[in-house]
Amino acid sequence: MKKNNIVLVGGGSTWTPGILKAMTTHLDQFALNRVVLYDINSDRQAVIGQFAEILFQEEAPNVEVIYTTDKAVAYNDVDFVFCQMRTGGFDMREQDEKVPLSLGVIGQETCGPGGFAYGLRSIRDMVEMVQDVRRLSPNAWILNYTNPAAIVALALDKLFPDDTRILNICDQPVNLMRSYAKLIDRDVNTLEPEYFGLNHFGWFTAIYDENGVDVATEIKDIVKNGGFRPVDAEQRDQSWLDTYAMVEDMLNDFPDYLPNTYLQYYLYPDYKLSTLDPNYTRTDEVRKGREQKVFGECKRIVENGTARDSSVVHNDAHGDMMVEVAASIANNLRKTYIVIVRNDGIVSNLDDDVMIEVAASLGKNGPHPYAVGNIDTFYKALIENQHGFEKLTVEAYLEGSYTKALQALTLNRTVVDAKKARKVLDKLIEANKGYWPALN
Ligand code: G6P
Ligand code: MN
Repeated sequence: MKKNNIVLVGGGSTWTPGILKAMTTHLDQFALNRVVLYDINSDRQAVIGQFAEILFQEEAPNVEVIYTTDKAVAYNDVDFVFCQMRTGGFDMREQDEKVPLSLGVIGQETCGPGGFAYGLRSIRDMVEMVQDVRRLSPNAWILNYTNPAAIVALALDKLFPDDTRILNICDQPVNLMRSYAKLIDRDVNTLEPEYFGLNHFGWFTAIYDENGVDVATEIKDIVKNGGFRPVDAEQRDQSWLDTYAMVEDMLNDFPDYLPNTYLQYYLYPDYKLSTLDPNYTRTDEVRKGREQKVFGECKRIVENGTARDSSVVHNDAHGDMMVEVAASIANNLRKTYIVIVRNDGIVSNLDDDVMIEVAASLGKNGPHPYAVGNIDTFYKALIENQHGFEKLTVEAYLEGSYTKALQALTLNRTVVDAKKARKVLDKLIEANKGYWPALN
């Protein structure tokens, strides 16, 4: 098996230890020669980097580990780029959530105006990353997990239409699959999904078990009769438990398919708004929780010189998926993953240029998506509206157009009212100075 050189962009993230752990536990599926952690924040990078050295020294001493803030080192001679950058860091995530909320609109990192703001920040750095990687590693696979994945995917498809080695992926479908598997007491690896939609905006139409039986109805019945128990949810912080609880509401109103949890913001914007606290958002929850936990634990490990006793650093759905996806490509395993691809007829009654999220077989030539066919009016209309928002966001960025930005926000189901959209836009322009292009 070929030994891969990989770089993790956003190496100083709280997600990195779990991803590194997944790398050390999947070496038989995804062989490694060199792991580079790259981040522009040297303080965060150093803590996680020193942890990485210890972890690999103990679990995989033959793998070279480097951490750097120099992109020339990071992108040189790599086979796989795992990208999870966050332009503006948590300070700007906080703005994405709190600015809209201060004006009575949903504030969320990837949905509505928050996702719009984050999108306008992400595009520039993502484009630069692709250009840098292509200069130094023309054949590397770029596996992108950077948010808002929907907007990033659309922008990269528009700017690099012939680059067949960029793949945008989100872990929420897998998180949900893991949670569904627990509900029906199955092993998630025996389940195969059918899925369609946009990123953070899709539905499972079927979930097949190893005998080819569709277990979606069984799952829906359990959710409709009491919902997820806290232990079933893949993510356990209070805001995530509230999110999983909304699946029950969504299924009671729209029983056709199992929804992605992010649809709660678009289907129930008024209700969700009434439950969100403009002074304490998900950013605050993460800062007090995961951030403290992960960095505290990495510092402890570095002090003690061993990671062997750590219960904090463990395999999670996100890390396992990132490594398994890379393995499926590297070793042509052709396993099924839900990924983001150009529609090109997969959903027959949507435009070709929509970046849809759909199940695909994943091998060395990339994703081969499974056909979906026609979708029903409700889903088609929702998706086309949301795609309009995403497309206008990308065009607003590329053209520096205030009007398109206003159109985008007005289309978004979390905003709707154009006067509200203008207020939110003007406040976000202020908050994003130095990150956004000028919008005229
Ligand atoms: C899920 C989504 C990601 C998102 C993350 C937020 O995994 O798929 O796109 O970034 O949740 O998690 P957090 O715990 O930071 O709110
Ligand atoms: Mn996601």
